[in-house]
Amino acid sequence: MKCFRIGEREKRESVIVCRKKVFSAALAPLKERLLNGGGIVFTDTNVHALYRASIEKYLGGVPVFAMPAGEEHKNAETLFALLGAMREAGLRRDSLLVALGGGVVGDVGGLAAALYMRGIGCIQVPTTLLAQVDSSVGGKTAVDFGGVKNLIGAFHPPVRVLADPVFLNTLPRRELRSGLGEMVKHGALCPSLFEKLEGADDLLDPAFLAELVPENIAFKASVVRRDPREQGLRRCLNLGHTTGHAVELSSGLSHGACVLIGLLLESVLSARHLRADEAFLERLRALCKRALGEEKMPPLDLKGALLDKKNGAGDGVTLAVPVAAGEYELLRLPFGQYAREIGEAMETLC
Ligand SMILES: NC(=O)c1ccc[n+]([C@@H]2O[C@H](COP(=O)([O-])OP(=O)(O)OC[C@H]3O[C@@H](n4cnc5c(N)ncnc54)[C@H](O)[C@@H]3O)[C@@H](O)[C@H]2O)c1
Repeated sequence: MKCFRIGEREKRESVIVCRKKVFSAALAPLKERLLNGGGIVFTDTNVHALYRASIEKYLGGVPVFAMPAGEEHKNAETLFALLGAMREAGLRRDSLLVALGGGVVGDVGGLAAALYMRGIGCIQVPTTLLAQVDSSVGGKTAVDFGGVKNLIGAFHPPVRVLADPVFLNTLPRRELRSGLGEMVKHGALCPSLFEKLEGADDLLDPAFLAELVPENIAFKASVVRRDPREQGLRRCLNLGHTTGHAVELSSGLSHGACVLIGLLLESVLSARHLRADEAFLERLRALCKRALGEEKMPPLDLKGALLDKKNGAGDGVTLAVPVAAGEYELLRLPFGQYAREIGEAMETLC
């Protein structure tokens, strides 16, 4: 078992625990506290179907609310339906919401916990690789609104994150690859992780990925600890994401696969505009291609990049790009130039 802490001590500290047997060892002892208005389990229909027996065995009697699975349901309607279920279950100021699912469940559940009675405690139990290494760590919560991703949200660090490798055994390859995309991004910023990923025989082996979860969490936690509100350093975690979001809007690929494509393309811009270590960027591109496997790069609609609220105002695009092992820089380009150069990079790489 591995344990990390992030946040201001005694105020908003998250305890992150990587452990096996999460239901019997970590959730069952909370059952008495969660009964009679003390809490609710929030999940999605897929996770509920897979883990219903464990929920009933270890948390029987605790109210369960399952949203329809999928990003298209990460919206205000689902948020308010959940808030309604929390009221109906009689949740109080000292109650807990247990978010059992992937990043979508974590984001909606975290936001509902932030809003209900001005904030109740949230326990994140991430069940996808992406949620374990990324979205459950750091306190960002949100729903999509008006066609814009994550437009309505809050920083609401969970009181506890419980990451159990067992959940990876039921994850489809597409979802494993999605988490792998964020792990490669962490690797670009953390040399020891990069070398482990480079050395893997099978990048999608759940056992191999599970072994790297604690190191990924430790890396993300170290960044969030130093910049909890994304005012500086935390922007490094947007590596590959500006172009990745545009790819996501114009393709059916998973989030992490789009991040891998974003990393590939943005590394070309990095080499062109900054004093970058080309040998490292070449290794990074090779790793991204291996991680993408059979996924094909789709035709790209860059309008999506304009909707990326992290770009800031004006006609320019600001990208966090890799420049050397463990190093990144911010690169700002006029939108027209960015679109043209990404287009050229696509032709070269595909
Ligand atoms: N808050 C943050 O800091 C942050 C960071 C990155 C991404 N995100 C958000 O996370 C979301 C993506 O998260 P995701 O990739 O986990 O997607 P997801 O939550 O939609 O899960 C992907 C699919 O896997 C299924 N699933 C979940 N656990 C499973 C399991 N153990 N076995 C089998 N199937 C399982 C889900 O039902 C879903 O169909 C996006 O909305 C993104 O914006 C948030």
